[in-house]
Amino acid sequence: MTQYAINGGTPLHGTINISGAKNAALAILPATLLVDGVCRIENIPKVTDVTLMLEILRDVGASIRLTDDNAVLIDTSGVSAGSVAPYEQARRMRASYYLIGAFLARFAGAQVAMPGGCNLGVRPIDQHMKGFEALGADVQVKAGSIHARAREQCLKGANIYLDVQSVGATINIILAAAMADGLTVIENAAREPHVVDLANFLNSAGADIKGAGTDMIKIRGKKSLKGGSYAIIPDQIEAGTYMAAVTAAGGEVTLNNVIPKHLECITAKLEELGANVEEYDDSITVRREGKLRKANIKTLPYPGFPTDMQPQISACLSSAEGISMITESVADNRYRYVDELKRMGARIQVDGKVAVIEGIRHLTGAPVQACDLRAGAALIVAALGAQGTTEIGGVYHIERGYENIVSKLQGVGANIRAEEVSDSEHLASGKTG
Ligand code: EPU
Repeated sequence: MTQYAINGGTPLHGTINISGAKNAALAILPATLLVDGVCRIENIPKVTDVTLMLEILRDVGASIRLTDDNAVLIDTSGVSAGSVAPYEQARRMRASYYLIGAFLARFAGAQVAMPGGCNLGVRPIDQHMKGFEALGADVQVKAGSIHARAREQCLKGANIYLDVQSVGATINIILAAAMADGLTVIENAAREPHVVDLANFLNSAGADIKGAGTDMIKIRGKKSLKGGSYAIIPDQIEAGTYMAAVTAAGGEVTLNNVIPKHLECITAKLEELGANVEEYDDSITVRREGKLRKANIKTLPYPGFPTDMQPQISACLSSAEGISMITESVADNRYRYVDELKRMGARIQVDGKVAVIEGIRHLTGAPVQACDLRAGAALIVAALGAQGTTEIGGVYHIERGYENIVSKLQGVGANIRAEEVSDSEHLASGKTG
């Protein structure tokens, strides 16, 4: 198995190109099921979750051709009404549930395995189901799969108020409603950049979706959508992770291919910690020279501080002066990485949704284990700022969402390498899951 070995304490200098947004790609790729003709989707991130989504689409009959400039050509005309997303693949990822909305839109019926993804506590999908039902579908869970079928020939527009501002439910309802009969209004909709990106993609194909990026989205269903070219937005969380890495390790790094507006919630907090961020049109420069300072952070839906950045900023705060408080108000259980940071010397007390971090002078390298995607990113951030060598196991979690993270970090002078180790070496260092 692969592990990352990181020798920390070296400031980072140089430039990193940010990839396309994983969570936007995971919504837009299934959305091609709604489109007649070929879609060319550009700025596709080469990460394993996206590869898995492409495999699922190929398995249900889509024709897929990857080009060498991170674009993919997709023609879903070969997908037929009875196609079922392969159970084993679909259950391995959270975003496979977008196939329900997309299949419902195109064929008025869907069968997809219950979703998997990072273990962040209870991750219900009741709001997705409520949306599909409001649009006129019967939804049942049978033998580990979700079965959804329109009660009439097609779905019908409806008013849907989301009880929680769920990104996944907002996206799934947009997908299902884009070709429904009449007007759908989603209230208390999620406002994340990838919700907007999905709406922009569908609108570029001829859909009529207004208000994405606000908490009220109006979708007037269209009979058909036409293929074309679309470029996915840059990944907010990938960029935020490298911003945190520079904050932890020190130095000066420019991130290219970003939308600075999407990063403002992260920038504001990292500046409180002592980083300096300069914004340009589609790049930012992050610098950190002095000591790290404490900060209090509460995660919130966009435009608040993202839950997907909470572990990485906690890694920075572990060696900041003073006592910081983190409140996780989006995910149910997102502190599983804390025990691993403690192996590196971090002083963190978790009580329910709150973590109190008592900053120490510096973390110390240790063998640690990534337990989910952003937990793994946090361990990399911690390791880059720590003294000594950190060996991170479970890196397949990290590769689900970060394209070429090792070479991108090597490019800014980080002492990081991927190495193959046997299971027994892994066991010897006590790093099993
Ligand atoms: N929720 C419900 N009912 C639902 C749906 C969600 O109660 O039907 C709750 C969840 O339990 C959670 C909150 O609502 O407490 C927000 O969940 P949301 O639906 O917004 O999350 P998601 O769609 O499952 C996406 C990202 C996550 C990211 C969250 C929050 C994708 C594929 N995943 O998940 O990304 O943490 O939004 O921003 O887009 C990651 O990339 O590492 C990742 C976990």
